[in-house]
Amino acid sequence: MSNLKTINDIQDLKGKKVVVRADLNVPTEGTKITDNSRIERFAPTAKLLSDKGAKVIIITHFGRPKGQKLPEFSTKILIDNLATAIGKPVEFVDDTIGDIVNTKINEMKDGDIILLENVRFYNEEEANDTEFSKKLASLGDIYVNDAFSTSHRAHASTEGITKYLPSYAGLLMEEEVNALTSALENPKHPAIAIVGGSKVSTKLAVLENITKKVDAIVIGGAMANTFLLAQGYNIGASMAEEDMKDTALKIIEEAKKNGCEIILPVDVCVAKEFKANAENKFVGIDDVDGDWKIFDIGPESSKILDKKFAEAKTVLWNGPLGVFELVPFDRGTNELAKTVAELTRNGKIISVAGGGDTVSALNNAGVAQDFTYISTAGGAFLEWLEGKILPAIPPLMK
Ligand code: 3PG
Repeated sequence: MSNLKTINDIQDLKGKKVVVRADLNVPTEGTKITDNSRIERFAPTAKLLSDKGAKVIIITHFGRPKGQKLPEFSTKILIDNLATAIGKPVEFVDDTIGDIVNTKINEMKDGDIILLENVRFYNEEEANDTEFSKKLASLGDIYVNDAFSTSHRAHASTEGITKYLPSYAGLLMEEEVNALTSALENPKHPAIAIVGGSKVSTKLAVLENITKKVDAIVIGGAMANTFLLAQGYNIGASMAEEDMKDTALKIIEEAKKNGCEIILPVDVCVAKEFKANAENKFVGIDDVDGDWKIFDIGPESSKILDKKFAEAKTVLWNGPLGVFELVPFDRGTNELAKTVAELTRNGKIISVAGGGDTVSALNNAGVAQDFTYISTAGGAFLEWLEGKILPAIPPLMK
């Protein structure tokens, strides 16, 4: 479907040294990995390459060590989970380029897998330095990029290296590009996007781009407050961006021109304190006042959304509707997530979700597994929604 050159296009992998860029930048608490998704989603690519007899040399970043060799950013922490996910031994190598790496690669047998130390221990990585890109390229015969979630970075291991090696997309990269293309570039209509989050300013480019692509946008989170404020509603003490009011009105105008409906809540859940189970009430959108703050949409809004979504064919979700981390302000997000999950299970819609908070919110609702596709990407997913070209992807095109 996509125009990518993929690892399935490589004729003979036996004995080939394949440098694979993964994004194994997983969340951790101390030495514990708290979400293994990126490791599990990458594993099939490494396994396939190894099964076909390639010598698999995995490169990833982990955190933002900013060119310093800091032990807390060592990729060694990933080794056990990675080996388990691939179902084969994986050896850690304590550098990314240089003698010990070259020696190790010369000792590798067909099918062996190694994981190199954090590529961001070198400043040259983020600087997309030419000499460093060449050094990374010199490690292998072929380059495979399976790091969609880092493809918005033009770094040496994502973009620079492609100038010096035949370059292909891995299975996860292919899956991500196909899913996002079908949801945003060629969606089945009606297509509805849910765009939540706290600030219009951070999602402005997303909103501007998708009003041209989808039939309706549900605006959620504190962003919705800014839109309500711009339309003259009293939002009490709710969080909003005063200076984005004109921008919000322009987006509404632009959406109208493009035949895209902007959906805002008609009722909301308000509370005075930002804490779980704080005293709260549902009020109509005309009745928010004093020191009450909007923390979620209300049940009437949920009913309207359920009806809208029953007619949709494609749903694209980025950002929660309310303060989903605090009970009971996760109600609106949970309810809509369950509706979308059920419609997906019944084969009525294609549902694609991405962005860090979004996936946590869908996990909180217990329905992430029912969505058609959950992206592993945060920043890259947003930049895709903004309509930007992600610099690591064009070098992988046919
Ligand atoms: C991510 O977690 O979104 C990617 O791994 C990219 O990380 P970065 O924002 O540090 O480049």
